[in-house]
Amino acid sequence: MTDKKTERSKTEDGKRRWKGPSAADAERAREKTFNTKKKIKKGGITKKSSRAWIERQLNDPYVRRAQEAGWRARAAYKLLDLDEKFGLLKNTQRVVDLGCAPGSWTQVLMQRGAHYVVGIDLLPVEPIAGAHLIEGDVNDPEAMKEMMSALQGKPTLVLSDMAAATTGHKQTDHIRTVQLAEMAVQFAINNLEIGGNFCTKVFQGGAQGDLKALMDENFADVRYWKPPSSRAGSPEMFAVALGFKQTKKR
Ligand SMILES: C[S@@+](CC[C@H](N)C(=O)[O-])C[C@H]1O[C@@H](n2cnc3c(N)ncnc32)[C@H](O)[C@@H]1O
Repeated sequence: MTDKKTERSKTEDGKRRWKGPSAADAERAREKTFNTKKKIKKGGITKKSSRAWIERQLNDPYVRRAQEAGWRARAAYKLLDLDEKFGLLKNTQRVVDLGCAPGSWTQVLMQRGAHYVVGIDLLPVEPIAGAHLIEGDVNDPEAMKEMMSALQGKPTLVLSDMAAATTGHKQTDHIRTVQLAEMAVQFAINNLEIGGNFCTKVFQGGAQGDLKALMDENFADVRYWKPPSSRAGSPEMFAVALGFKQTKKR
């Protein structure tokens, strides 16, 4: 008789042990898990936008890669792409990371041997060994003062991946992100060491002309680029400004 109980006791006796799937079966299962487009059932999560976000996360290869590599966010790959394309991380003596939560850019910077990294975000960030992380608003002069004194000198690189919480109203979101980028450009121009580099997230569309002109005036080389790791459907791209020049406007 081969009921379940008998089969189990056979296994416990050690006569017929299952040694796990073959390598090929395991790979097939893994492929199936990761490569099947995942859908979230309507019952559990009520908001359509939340469901869409979770589905996107589950089906995004960069999310999986980031989890496997230990990066706190897929955003790490954008900085790595920007570095590969422009050599952005050449001088990481003193770095400012504006809008640093949850911390993947700071992680990349520390891994690249940055000497001093100071990050700031509205949200709290879990500590990252060697980095000084501040919970605060870039529009708060006190928080910015704390940031500069932690840095012990002029930054050689200023990064901003800041994005305002989205409202769903395209134009409002665009304007709010442009304002954050403007703030980052002004901060870079007021503080960077001569020869230093700057990079900020911007959103495509509308009000960007002045920003570009300001960067052109103050940097030797300014480019706009959308890294391959930036989601195709997102209006996000990055302005990279290399070689800060001394200007009268400072
Ligand atoms: C896309 S996330 C940054 C991801 C980060 N680069 C990483 O790799 O983990 C954008 C961040 O900008 C922050 N942010 C938005 N407005 C800010 C402000 N006024 N001051 C400081 N941080 C701000 C948000 O809180 C958010 O955490």
